[in-house]
This record gives sequence, structure tokens and C-alpha cells, in this order.
Amino acid sequence: MKQHPLSVAVVRDPGKDVRLIIEICPSADLVAARGAELFLSEARRAIRERGRFTVALSGGASPALLFRRIAEDAPFSGIDWGKTHVFWVDERCVPPDHADSNFRMAGELLLSRLPSPGAVIHRIPTELPPREAARCYEQELTRAFPGEGAPVFDQIWLGLGSDGHTASLFSDCEAQGSAGQTAIAVYVEKLRSHRITLTLPAINNARHVIFLVTGAGKADIVAEILEGKEGSRYPAAGVAPSDGALTWLLDTHAGGRLHYP
Ligand code: 6PG
Repeated sequence: MKQHPLSVAVVRDPGKDVRLIIEICPSADLVAARGAELFLSEARRAIRERGRFTVALSGGASPALLFRRIAEDAPFSGIDWGKTHVFWVDERCVPPDHADSNFRMAGELLLSRLPSPGAVIHRIPTELPPREAARCYEQELTRAFPGEGAPVFDQIWLGLGSDGHTASLFSDCEAQGSAGQTAIAVYVEKLRSHRITLTLPAINNARHVIFLVTGAGKADIVAEILEGKEGSRYPAAGVAPSDGALTWLLDTHAGGRLHYP
């Protein structure tokens, strides 16, 4: 599968000492193709090296093309899907069959289309009251990552809101999670909705975190977070894996205001 990243810059971010990779692809379709390549290659490697692949998915519109592309490529990937564990970065507090459900979207576009036996699903139980759902999800994470203390996901896929939020970590949410917490319930005032989200410490414990961002509407916030003087005030700017890699996978529109080569 030949990819055509317009440019790849591997730079060390002086402020956080994390390996930061920025990949800019000519179109959203090629971002999805590159994303699927990262997903499948790292799944094969994790299963080979550790016996399983653990990945947390985000919702919103951006991942739709990625999910469809992974589903297209999955039958030819040689992956034992029964060794793939799928989690969610965040979830809206709606029933799993609700139109806004991140679980439902991933199910329709990806999980229902994986070769048998399909992936092992670790759904956030949003039919429960928010705090109870967060507690149950934390218990699920503890069961799924025994003996590891905090979960160490092989891959975490993040989107980016034009307001600089990621996952369901919004600037106006007082709860951002503390070192001991892996999942919390938050109330997002601007959306007037409850959500369950991984905390920043849980996200930063991953082996590889990938932002998938496309469209000109995100160009300003991408440039502000990656290059701006005020970037650090946005929740997404707090994503800096303590011992992992961080990739920003962009199309030329979302990366249009960056000054990287
Ligand atoms: C969600 C996501 C959220 C999303 C951003 C970007 O549940 O909505 O997890 O963090 O990634 O809001 O959304 P778009 O991809 O739709 O712009």
C-alpha cells in the first residue's frame, strides 16, 4: 500500500522531550489510508511482541474515513482479530444504539465489518448514571490491564475540536483527571451533556498517541497548539506521552498554517 505523505517531520519537542511526528498527507482519504496502515502495522507488531493489541478509539466525524479504510484493509491484514482489544477514549452518555454514540459509529463502520471472530470490545457502559459508568469503565480497564497499574494502550486515536479539546477534555471542564484516575465523568457545559472520558494521565501512558485531524477548520487550532505561544492552554496540548510516541496525522488543510518543512 503506497502512501504519499507530503512531508514527514520527526522533531523533538523541546518543552516535553517527547518524540513528535507530524505527517501531512495531500487529502483526507490519504490520511485515512495512512492511519489504517499505522493501525494494522502496529496491531501486527503488538500481537507478535505481546500477544495482543490494545487500542482506544475516539468519536466525532474525523475517524469515520479511518474506520471505513481499516475495515476495507482488515481482511487482507493477516491479523488475528480475537487478539485485538478495542476501547473508547470517550463516550457520550447516551444508549449504545443512540445516533450520537461513539460505540455505535465504530460498530457500524468498523467492528461489525472485521473478519471473524472480530475484536474484543470493551464498551463504556453509558446506560448507567455517569459517575457509575466511569467507575465501571475504570474497573474494566483494571481487569483488561492486570498488573500494569495504569493501562498502557498500544495505540490511542484522538480527534481535535476547533476549541482545542480532545477526548472529552474541555477547557471549561473543571475535571481533567488526576494521576490516579483513568476514566472520569464530566459535564460539558457548552454541549449541555455528560460524557465519560479517559484522563490525560491515562492517555499519556500510551505507547503511541495519534491525533487524526483534517479540514481547514482545524488549521488555526493545530498551528496554535503545535507552534503558538498560547498553545499550552488547550487540553489537547497536554497530550505528551511520557514514554511513547506522539503523531499528528493531518491533511494539507488542517496542517495549512504550520511552519514545519
Ligand atoms: C467525541 C470525540 C471528540 C472529537 C472532537 C473532534 O466524542 O466527539 O472524542 O473529542 O474527537 O470533538 O470531532 P470531529 O472529528 O467531529 O471534528
